[in-house]
Amino acid sequence: MNPITHLLEIDRLQTVFWNGREEVAAIEDVSFSLRAGETIGIVGESGCGKSVTSLSIMRLLGQNGRIRRGEIRFNSRNLVAESEKELRSLRGKEIAMIFQEPMTSLNPVLTIGHQLVEMIRCHTSLSRREAKAYAMEMLKKVGLPQAKDLMSVYPHTLSGGMRQRIMIAMALSCKPRLLIADEPTTALDVTIQAQILELMKSLRKESGAAIMLITHDLGVVAEMADRVVVMYAGQIVEEADVFTLFREPKHPYTQGLMASIPRVQGENERLRAIPGTVPSIRKMPKGCRFHTRCEWAAERCRQEQPQLESVGGEHQVRCWIVQEQASPLPVSANFQHQEAGV
Ligand SMILES: Nc1ncnc2c1ncn2[C@@H]1O[C@H](COP(=O)(O)OP(=O)(O)OP(=O)(O)O)[C@@H](O)[C@H]1O
Ligand SMILES: [Mg+2]
Repeated sequence: MNPITHLLEIDRLQTVFWNGREEVAAIEDVSFSLRAGETIGIVGESGCGKSVTSLSIMRLLGQNGRIRRGEIRFNSRNLVAESEKELRSLRGKEIAMIFQEPMTSLNPVLTIGHQLVEMIRCHTSLSRREAKAYAMEMLKKVGLPQAKDLMSVYPHTLSGGMRQRIMIAMALSCKPRLLIADEPTTALDVTIQAQILELMKSLRKESGAAIMLITHDLGVVAEMADRVVVMYAGQIVEEADVFTLFREPKHPYTQGLMASIPRVQGENERLRAIPGTVPSIRKMPKGCRFHTRCEWAAERCRQEQPQLESVGGEHQVRCWIVQEQASPLPVSANFQHQEAGV
């Protein structure tokens, strides 16, 4: 068997923010990895730490944020230890990110054309004229046929959806090895959304890029992802390949997310069927972080925190109830079936 080489390995990452009085952890013990050409979907309700995970990889945590523990290995380099200069040369070229809020990453005082051309020239050897032609080609690819006119306008004159597509054009134009897409299509209508997903697929196919796709839309995950990470309250609670996750979600939280998929086709609703809310990072419950909303919660769940553990192959779950069911082996027919399939 070939050794598995990972493009990205995140190992027990903890990212904290200073709130004026103390540092609070927004994500804790987050570990997962990604191979070249692979797409990982990251799902979870609002505030679970999806964006903080991606901003940690880019080391764009702002003044009050820092990585307190863990490693982020990209191509065997530990990004946590790299200098800001080294990171600047990686960002955009090797690792590109489509941000959840596109306005924050477009410069308001420069035209769209200027920003696109600079970005392309910074990471390729194209001449200004070639970079301009390429920029217009990319704008057309993201569903902006009026590319020529767009080159001379400023970001604030555009709608949120257009700005998002420009960001996507920028991110894809440098053919990154890792594309981090944070809710890339949420603000877009379904036709444009489908076009963008196709573009991401061709990036993956043509250049073998890995994609980290953060989304609330489980339909998009099913279509795009090879593997899925489910986050709850700053931690990974389940990870599995996409088929296993949809067929046999084990964590009660994942099961809740699955149950909340809108039944009406085309309805693009946010997930909200699980009663209760995600706990605040300032006041995490003792024991399992999900126990306050879990209908199966037992005494142990209220007292001790479960770890993320394999329940067969690469399927991992952070839940006492699931782990106790799975041990000692063999238990249920379900589990034996899954073991045999690995
Ligand atoms: N700059 C910051 N300063 C302080 N706390 C922050 C900061 N950024 C994020 N947080 C906190 O970290 C936690 C995780 O936030 P994050 O933005 O990663 O959630 P998310 O899963 O991306 O949610 P959404 O689906 O709404 O985008 C939240 O409690 C949030 O308030
Ligand atoms: Mg977010």
